[in-house]
Amino acid sequence: MLENLEHTLSDGATTIRLGDCTELINEIPDGSIDLVFADPPYNIGKKFGEFKDSWPSDDAYALWCQEWIELCIRKLRPTGSLYVMTSTQAMPYLDLWIRSKMAVLSRVVWHYDSSGVQARKYYGSLYEPILFCVKDPAKYVFNADAIEVEARTGAVRNLIDYRKAVPAPYKNTKIPGNAWYFPRVRYRMDEYEDHPTQKPEALLERIIKASSNPGDTVFDPFSGTFTTCAVAQRLGRKSLGIEMNEAYFKIGARRLGLATELNGEPLTAPDKSFKRRKSKREASEQMSLEITNE
Ligand SMILES: C[S@@+](CC[C@H](N)C(=O)[O-])C[C@H]1O[C@@H](n2cnc3c(N)ncnc32)[C@H](O)[C@@H]1O
Repeated sequence: MLENLEHTLSDGATTIRLGDCTELINEIPDGSIDLVFADPPYNIGKKFGEFKDSWPSDDAYALWCQEWIELCIRKLRPTGSLYVMTSTQAMPYLDLWIRSKMAVLSRVVWHYDSSGVQARKYYGSLYEPILFCVKDPAKYVFNADAIEVEARTGAVRNLIDYRKAVPAPYKNTKIPGNAWYFPRVRYRMDEYEDHPTQKPEALLERIIKASSNPGDTVFDPFSGTFTTCAVAQRLGRKSLGIEMNEAYFKIGARRLGLATELNGEPLTAPDKSFKRRKSKREASEQMSLEITNE
């Protein structure tokens, strides 16, 4: 049955909450979460509605992160995993600190291309780091078979492994390494929502498939457009997502099929009918073409 409290929507398997995760997280029972995916503000001055992600110093930002990461760790089961993202410049602070709390098994780089505005005086940032940590390196979930990708050298070149007693073709698939290429979410993509830092479903799909099993519970304290909950739902996992911005909470309510309207306001998908306006040059070229054709 759909629960519809003022700031909580749930169908039993998927629950979303509107509010500050550093407070609401305390309501989650300790040791009840299988996987946490945390994609917080990065302290790089982005605007999330009214909220500007800017802390007075790197240390102040790191301290804030440490507070909610401590809470996330407490909510994880003994076999649980935590994936945490932040900016390239902030990650070293978290990486050094988290080593005394959890085992860091991988330092993943999510990289992408960009044809937008490029840095001209330094090498522009085309990746975001992700730490993959577990509570107990002797006992954790990692479904390697569920995330295999094409092994390009073996599959494309049909290589034979002559080191074997009986030479055999190389395996066509492999477990991905720690450099992941996924395009960023763009306006024309089906999954696009109106949010400045929406993460691709493909990225979450890899994480959720690898580090949880069907029926497990996934928690995302900074849900944004609720990508984590959407992918968890599709993959048969339970999920809890928290987001403090009401407009983004409404996106989640609609995206997850938890509501079609809130407080009398219909929840509608973003309008993707926008067409790029012609530049002055394109417009004048078209005009001269029309004149020539007359
Ligand atoms: C980097 S975005 C997350 C994007 C998300 N992974 C997605 O795919 O859409 C961070 C989000 O955290 C939210 N946020 C910032 N501080 C928060 C807090 N204390 N509690 C809950 N949400 C917060 C922001 O409004 C923003 O939507």
